[in-house]
Amino acid sequence: MCGIIGYCGSKPGVPIVIEALQCLEYRGYDSAGIASLCDGRLLIKKDAGKVGEVIEKHDLISLPGSIVMGHTRWATHGAVTQLNAHPHSDCRNRIAVVHNGIIENSAQLREELAGAGHVFRSETDTEVIAHLLEDEAGNGRSLEQAVLSIAPRLEGSYAFLAASLDDPGKIVGTRRDNPLIVGVDAPDYYISSDALAFSRYTNRVMNLEDNDVVVLAAGAIEFLDKQGNRLSRQVRQLDQVWSESSKGNYQHFMLKEIMEEAQVFDQAADQDGRLFTEIALDILRARQVIITACGTSRYAALVGRYLFSKVGKKFCDVVMASEFGYFADSVDKNTVVVTVSQSGETADVVDGVKAARAADARVISIINRPNSILADLSHHVIHLNCGPEVAVPATKSFLSQLAIFYLLSFSMVNDFDGATARLSALNTAIAGVLDSNKSELITLSHELKDRNDFYYIARGINFAIASEGALKLKEVSYIHAEGMPAGELKHGTLALVEQGTPVVVICPADYTFAETLSNAIEAKSRGAFIIGVSDRESNVYDSWISIPEVDELLYPMIAVVPLHLLAYYLAISRGYDPDRPRNLAKSVTVK
Ligand code: G6P
Repeated sequence: MCGIIGYCGSKPGVPIVIEALQCLEYRGYDSAGIASLCDGRLLIKKDAGKVGEVIEKHDLISLPGSIVMGHTRWATHGAVTQLNAHPHSDCRNRIAVVHNGIIENSAQLREELAGAGHVFRSETDTEVIAHLLEDEAGNGRSLEQAVLSIAPRLEGSYAFLAASLDDPGKIVGTRRDNPLIVGVDAPDYYISSDALAFSRYTNRVMNLEDNDVVVLAAGAIEFLDKQGNRLSRQVRQLDQVWSESSKGNYQHFMLKEIMEEAQVFDQAADQDGRLFTEIALDILRARQVIITACGTSRYAALVGRYLFSKVGKKFCDVVMASEFGYFADSVDKNTVVVTVSQSGETADVVDGVKAARAADARVISIINRPNSILADLSHHVIHLNCGPEVAVPATKSFLSQLAIFYLLSFSMVNDFDGATARLSALNTAIAGVLDSNKSELITLSHELKDRNDFYYIARGINFAIASEGALKLKEVSYIHAEGMPAGELKHGTLALVEQGTPVVVICPADYTFAETLSNAIEAKSRGAFIIGVSDRESNVYDSWISIPEVDELLYPMIAVVPLHLLAYYLAISRGYDPDRPRNLAKSVTVK
């Protein structure tokens, strides 16, 4: 949550920072702002609103300067207002700070600083950093010395950048439990929450470890440890695929990424079979296996649980990452914890992994983004390989996560190669689903756009797909939706079904068909409008979304595709931007 970017170099910095902010908008889009050091002046422009709106309203592009920082905000402390937007500055407007994370002891620090005469202008936790730096900087001390001396006083998690008129010509950055990565293209240096922000300019990066302090100046870079000793950090080359983040001919990233669902399996299956066998053995041998994740990733985990049980005969539990800590008492060295996270930086998941590591558990992470915090904390990392996912709602990464669970479960029975081949055959089937159902889904979205509630039901391995379909709908169309096992409908929720209530029934023609269909009939008898997602037609459906017949363990990967598309078209019919749903962010780095 919140994206930060800094640029120090030979070029005009503002256009670079503006472009980066547009890339980082997935991290939060309540407010945006820029600070530029230029000709002995600190210029700050910021406001509430999406990046594009702030750029236009304040003519940001006209700001001069080659030492520039930018921020896009997802509000935590303080309302969405111009004063709470970043950058924040000290009393004298000589220091500017942009921050991602939460300073947990900010109330106490604010009280101390206000008591000592500092004047606060915002309600944010971030502003304490600027005032603390004001006390430490000056008197011949460099900005990096000031950063080093205030860091131990900050509790919580952060990545922040600071620039000062009293020590001009540089940006100083540091991090703890929040991402920060440097892009190197001497004499130009970039620093951001995400390498995607500067990938147009360079793919050569340097990672910051927790508590590292980095000093960027035009033509020079220096890393310091928390005592201020110089550190050597390696330059690495980023994978090219992470540069591809354009919408192409699509109106929205969400649609582009749904269309890419027809290609993810080959990339997801491009894995080291020996590593999968090793991980599968770890899982089989473990006393207990807990999968932990949030949001869409948790629904992938729920499908994974069925696969582990059906194929590997290994029972495991799925615990919401925000609840994981409350189960940590039973985690020990004979526990395997599997995390699933597209971003690799979701704070609740990171926290759970830290608890698991503290209890000596083995940690395996299934991640999309390279260089993530979770990757550093895990014994083994499995990459989704689906490339950047830019839209806030997760779509193609979900398919990749399902593919990884499929491969892992078949690795438990020594059939990694067979699983790879079966996945590969799905690409064409998914392309067919996307193509053949498009017009029916568009028609449905126009017909149903004013309904207030949707229910999604399914049985067995597809139950989590019902939940994922409902989540996607809520996220992008703001229609209330619930997903549940079909058998549960009659235990309460059926009371809410009335004339015309849409009920989406995932009803593959397998051993769950008859029972699922009879649950659909129960809803239809109460007036529900039944949307059947099935490979077998039925007169129970008011609308039939046809999917091809596949093996029962592959249905989740096929059935979810039209549900993603339905959510997308409903968002469009209702006039919303599905790439940037209100109040949400793609990377949730706060608890
Ligand atoms: C946020 C996103 C969701 C995502 C969840 C978990 O809530 O809006 O789309 O599923 O975080 O994210 P992760 O990166 O851990 O998969």
